Amino acid sequence: MRNYNTKFVGKVLMEFDELPSTNDFARNYANQSAAQEGAVIRARKQTSGRGQMGTTWESMPECNLTMSVVLKPSWLRADQQTGLSKAVALAVFDALQDWANREKIDQQIQIKWPNDVLINRQKVCGILIENTINGQNLGVSVVGIGVNVNQTHFSGALSSATSMALVSGKEEDIEQVMRLIFAYLEANYLLLKSEGGAVTLHQHYLQHLLGYQQLMSFVSVPDGRIFEGVIVDVDADGMLCVDRDGVVQKFGLKSIKINP
Ligand code: BTN
Repeated sequence: MRNYNTKFVGKVLMEFDELPSTNDFARNYANQSAAQEGAVIRARKQTSGRGQMGTTWESMPECNLTMSVVLKPSWLRADQQTGLSKAVALAVFDALQDWANREKIDQQIQIKWPNDVLINRQKVCGILIENTINGQNLGVSVVGIGVNVNQTHFSGALSSATSMALVSGKEEDIEQVMRLIFAYLEANYLLLKSEGGAVTLHQHYLQHLLGYQQLMSFVSVPDGRIFEGVIVDVDADGMLCVDRDGVVQKFGLKSIKINP
């Protein structure tokens, strides 16, 4: 990308030392009639950061990027909302790849279904998108993004996480990471809106998806059974399509885990 300036993402930027959750603040802000598309809410510390499926998002205060972007994709059908999830994951992927290229970091950056971003198979970013629906289309989307930037110690459940600083060996500029994500988020969002853009994003997403066209180990969530298969697609509903001995089965978020 040559030009990192944006037209609307980050033009309104509200920064706080502390918030319970930037997603909660963003949702309240988005309910106001004057809410601007692309407005960003950032907190240096979250006291009740939220993750996917009711989990909490742990992030060391002051060290990382925790922000939410307010979007208004009223042009996107609700049954195509997975397109937005892919566009956002790819925006973080693109921003990290841009950074890695400039820093000459030769480590693999990937997306883990549905929208985690990994460096060297370790999680560096989590995304929580919360949509409202208006008729057949989306209303407001609150796109919550947590990137591990300068945190260097991860313990307990997070022991397999990483950060940009751990990868580069030096402190990184959180503000710069944020601006880079703004630029790629706006570009991918506009691409999704354009004719044929969803197909381009889907192909780009599969190209960088952990386990795509590779034999991988999975855990079946209800019973803990381990099985092998090959990811062959992610369908329009966001389901993971896994080929198990020639039969393609579809899995939702609650029914499968990719074995680390
Ligand atoms: C996940 O991987 O479980 C998703 C984590 C999303 C975390 C971000 S941090 C900014 C925003 N505010 C929140 O409360 N959560 C998201």
